[in-house]
Amino acid sequence: MVEHAATDSIEITASDRVFVLTGAGISAESGLRTFRDSNGLWAGYPVETVATPEGWDANPELVWQFYSQRRREAQASQPNPAHRALAELEKRIGERLFLCTQNVDNLHERAGSQNLIHMHGELFRSRCEANCGAPLIEDSHSYNSIHEIPMCACGSRLRPHIVWFGEVPLEMTRIQTEIDRCSILVVVGTSGAVHPAASFVHWAKARRGNPARTYYVGPEEPLNASAFTRIILGRAGEKLPDLFEIF
Ligand code: OAD
Ligand code: ZN
Repeated sequence: MVEHAATDSIEITASDRVFVLTGAGISAESGLRTFRDSNGLWAGYPVETVATPEGWDANPELVWQFYSQRRREAQASQPNPAHRALAELEKRIGERLFLCTQNVDNLHERAGSQNLIHMHGELFRSRCEANCGAPLIEDSHSYNSIHEIPMCACGSRLRPHIVWFGEVPLEMTRIQTEIDRCSILVVVGTSGAVHPAASFVHWAKARRGNPARTYYVGPEEPLNASAFTRIILGRAGEKLPDLFEIF
């Protein structure tokens, strides 16, 4: 039975370790569209065309147009109170917070978060499509035609540093370690549709003897709602600033 909280607070004591997973919903109040809403990104662009290796092979120009537009929108947006609340939490509990985002925007960093993992990649980086070993490139440019697509020194094209469907999310070993040792898992603004992120709540509870307390924050129940200890219904920017009670 999922508890719908009357009082919305999460108590953090000195022995707690907190794992926070964020999704597109945390950037919604910054004006960035989520993926699965009726007006969401996947409504305008079929996933297969812009977020799969096959889509890239078929039409790299369209892929770069899509992520260039995402870059422009992210550049024009600002962090909101939810991003700032997580940056503040890091200031207060330091390395006892582990922040993992599925988002490719940089709003967590711009709000002041220093330690975080982008498990689905980063919008403002590009890399060699051939994985030749060349380092990631910081890249905030827009590429709108096939002729503008930048090339790696090895002669292959540069692609967005985004994890597409069919590819393996980044830093999974570190993520697994942090889930194993957290005592509190807080998931914010994600529909629970994409694995492995949607499974984190199950992993955090699966530890025999000491399951983590698990919370979801968002305006509607995610698909994996029944797995959470508590669902806190509301917008991230309204709930997060007063959510954490630190002892
Ligand atoms: P979705 O678009 O699937 O879900 C967004 C979630 O945010 C929904 O559950 C909304 O209820 C919630 N939401 C909307 N407004 C909110 C607000 N103000 N505060 C809190 N929550 C709000 O996006 P994700 O679950 O993040 O992957 O999508 C997961 C992955 O699928 C993405 O990282 C992306 C996508 O395909 C890649 O591109 C690799
Ligand atoms: Zn290369």
